Amino acid sequence: MTTWPSGYRHIHFETIGSTNDEARRLAASGDCGPLWITAGEQTAGRGRRGRVWVSPKGNLMSTLLLNPRRPAAECAQLSFVSAIASADTVAHFAPGAEIKVKWPNDVLANGRKISGILLESASAGGEPYFLAIGIGINLAHFPPDTEFPATSLAALGVSSPPLPDTLTQLAAHFAKWYEMWRAHGFAPIRDAWLARAANLGGRIRARLTNEETSGVFEGIDASGALLLRQASDRLRIIAAGEVFF
Ligand code: BTN
Repeated sequence: MTTWPSGYRHIHFETIGSTNDEARRLAASGDCGPLWITAGEQTAGRGRRGRVWVSPKGNLMSTLLLNPRRPAAECAQLSFVSAIASADTVAHFAPGAEIKVKWPNDVLANGRKISGILLESASAGGEPYFLAIGIGINLAHFPPDTEFPATSLAALGVSSPPLPDTLTQLAAHFAKWYEMWRAHGFAPIRDAWLARAANLGGRIRARLTNEETSGVFEGIDASGALLLRQASDRLRIIAAGEVFF
């Protein structure tokens, strides 16, 4: 049986604006975590790239407040740790579905997005003094009409697990991969992420800040940047953006 990882605390709110905002508030008051913050529903859930994250009752809305005491570039690698942990959690509850990760940190079930991750931090010039790793998993509901199609455990025919069970799975998987990262660095995380990567070796479209480009998805480099082989055989290294198939 999966048990709650030792050393991690947990607080739950029935309703909150955003668990990532609560993590920021707690960090400002001196809490370094590790602390899981969950909410029954969010009224101001945020996604990546300024999008709204629809957060109805029945889904998992969680943020891990953490202070890894590492430089910002290394902390950013934890978005891959989180994606693997979330993918393993979804796979635990939906063993019949094909669970994959999509760069940089989405989780797909049968090709549709089931989990998203929003990593935020702040620093006073040096290392970040906190990291808020927001993880949403669509258990009971998913938003219709999203640009990248979405799904939920319920839509996969899995009856929604109770929130405490889902969080315990997520927290335990995160703790395991986080320890791996602390002990051995990014290399085993990169391998584990690539082993779960959707469309590796296939054609993808990448949307960057000012352009859209396409090519063959060759993997990620030692910093987590996307490697895209373009028509001219040029290898493009993409640090930030969004991927479509
Ligand atoms: C994305 O894929 O756009 C990221 C979604 C992140 C959603 C989670 S839900 C818990 C935490 N609180 C938020 O406001 N957002 C994150």
